[in-house]
This record gives sequence, structure tokens and C-alpha cells, in this order.
Amino acid sequence: MLRTIFLLSLLFALSNASVQDFCVANLKRAETPAGYPCIRPIHVKATDFVFSGLGTPGNTTNIINAAVTPAFAAQFPGLNGLGLSTARLDLAPKGVIPMHTHPGASEVLFVLTGSITAGFVSSANAVYVQTLKPGQVMVFPQGLLHFQINAGKSSASAVVTFNSANPGLQILDFALFANSLPAELVVGTTFLDATTVKKLKGVLGGTG
Ligand SMILES: *[C@@H]1O[C@H](CO)[C@@H](O)[C@H](O)[C@H]1NC(C)=O
Repeated sequence: MLRTIFLLSLLFALSNASVQDFCVANLKRAETPAGYPCIRPIHVKATDFVFSGLGTPGNTTNIINAAVTPAFAAQFPGLNGLGLSTARLDLAPKGVIPMHTHPGASEVLFVLTGSITAGFVSSANAVYVQTLKPGQVMVFPQGLLHFQINAGKSSASAVVTFNSANPGLQILDFALFANSLPAELVVGTTFLDATTVKKLKGVLGGTG
């Protein structure tokens, strides 16, 4: 009898323990490095854990003929605090996600349609490139330079997932040519010729 009472009271105590299963984003508050503050659990709905925006292709009418549709905490409040984020990638014919890195996350790419050549370069400068078909996934280790380019004549799409809410993004050509870094420093630090640097600064909107 005593044992039963003890077990019942233990069960009761455990069921009331405030385990924080999730922290659905309060988008009315500012995002911090740790994510958004949580809304109160009583206000959480099933739809907070669902994002419907990845079913629609992004607009690829731009210089890279490609679009990234994010599903981060700002778009997908249920992801907040879980250390994950995801996005849809659309590549029109000739579309490319130029050489870039995510300083804060590894990435898994899952090809939905079309054919995508993807690759990364390791710290040892080894090159790992594959042309992927629908259903295949490729992983890009954290921080390494990588790219995706349409390998076919039709459009291609993929879903990417990151093991961080804030993977970060630095695009190599933008870092070199789309800012005010003086042309002579770009020439001096990249071994490119001045004409090429000037041309790329022009195309990408850089100054200096
Ligand atoms: C796609 O983007 C282009 C360039 O910004 C714009 O002109 C076009 O209207 C957009 N298309 C759609 C369907 O939103």
C-alpha cells in the first residue's frame, strides 16, 4: 500500500515536472543569438510545427538563375531553439548557388527534381564533386566552401537542412567583389588581374 502511494506520488511529480519540449518563436520579440523568446505553451498550435512554404518554387529570375526559400525560425516558429533549419533550393537551367560557406553548420542536400552537380573543397584542398539525381542526398561538412549548379536542361529543385538555426552564409564572389574592398587589395590577395577584378566588381555591384 505504502509502495503504491509512493509510486503514484512519484508519477504525479514527474508528470508535473516542467520539461521544456519546445520553444515556439515569439516573432513579435527580437531574435537573439540563442533564438527568439518562446510563446507560452498554452498558445502553441499544431500549425506552429508545420511550414507550407517549401512546396512552391522560388523566383529564379535573377543573376544566378536560382532561388533559396528559407524555413528558419522567422518563417517556421516551431523550429526555434531546436538547432535546425531548412530551405528549398530552385535552380532554373544554368542556375547556380555560387561557391559559398556556412560558418555555423553542416548541410544535407536532398534532390527533389532535375539533376544537380554539387561539391565541396576540404581544408586540405581535396575536391569532392558529384552529380546527383532525385532521391540522392549529399552532405557538406561545416565551414567548407561548396556549390550547387544545375547539371541538366530543365529546372532542378532540392531541400537543404542545416544542423544549426543560424548556419550563416558567406558567398565567395560577393566577399571578394561585391563590397568596398579596394581593387588593388583584391588583385594583390587573389592573384587575379586588375581587368577581371574591375569587371566582377562592376557585375556584382562592388566599389573601390
Ligand atoms: C520574379 O522576379 C523578377 C525580378 O525581380 C520579377 O520581375 C518577376 O515579376 C518575379 N516573378 C514572379 C512570378 O513573382
